[in-house]
Amino acid sequence: MWCARPGPRSGTLARPQPKERIIDTQDSPRTVKVLEAAEAYARAELGGDSGGHDWWHVHRVRNLAVELAREEDADRFLTELAALLHDIGDFKLSGSLTAGEEAARRFCTEQGLSAEDTDHVAGIVADLSYKGAGVPDAPLSLEGRCVRDADRLDAMGAIGIGRAFAYGGLHRRAMWDPEEAPRLHATETEYRSAKGSTIAHFHEKLLLLKGRMSTDAGARRAEHRHGVLVAFVNEFMAEWDGEDGRG
Ligand code: ADP
Ligand code: NI
Repeated sequence: MWCARPGPRSGTLARPQPKERIIDTQDSPRTVKVLEAAEAYARAELGGDSGGHDWWHVHRVRNLAVELAREEDADRFLTELAALLHDIGDFKLSGSLTAGEEAARRFCTEQGLSAEDTDHVAGIVADLSYKGAGVPDAPLSLEGRCVRDADRLDAMGAIGIGRAFAYGGLHRRAMWDPEEAPRLHATETEYRSAKGSTIAHFHEKLLLLKGRMSTDAGARRAEHRHGVLVAFVNEFMAEWDGEDGRG
């Protein structure tokens, strides 16, 4: 049975409702205008993607990043703005390593942000991405870490599973290939050129994200979402081997 707002584990099936942007009473008309323009830009750029980087991914990341920013006492406006801009010009969609940072910089300049805030937001967008199991994350400001943790949380849990298979399908990847072991990539180039199966990607990235949270608020949320990934992979492997449901 469908149910609009069940408890997450109440036994009924949830039908998620779009969550409105969390309005902060401290938002000035000026910051609201910039955030609305950023939202319109992100919707226009990412609306049509079917590989997991669509507008609703950005929407979830924005709301989650704002929650983390509250808990971490980070600047709420810069966090939300960077979250809204974070996937515009992303390598996966543009093929360019610098297009995202350039687009963020152009947007912030056009919106009249100070040079300092523009550098801050563009720097977050530039350094957000996961670049391989063996590649350390770039050091980021507190606001950047809130956006990065939120982006990574959306790659975990049930939604993370959905996104991974959407991406894998779009790029014609096998779900799993037992003859191809997952690889822990040592360089960004190796990671970016990988064409492995979607389950391999769980081992190459998704299952490692819990250990790479960089805010306490993110780390707390990662526990549950990681457990969902682990349960899914174990179940997938049990079914693959025909060892499920044997009591
Ligand atoms: P980041 O947000 O760190 O830049 P990516 O843009 O590389 O991460 O990936 C975002 C999401 O796209 C991943 O979390 C995953 O859901 C999906 N994805 C990326 N690469 C793969 C892959 N090789 N196989 C399956 N899904 C992938
Ligand atoms: Ni993202």
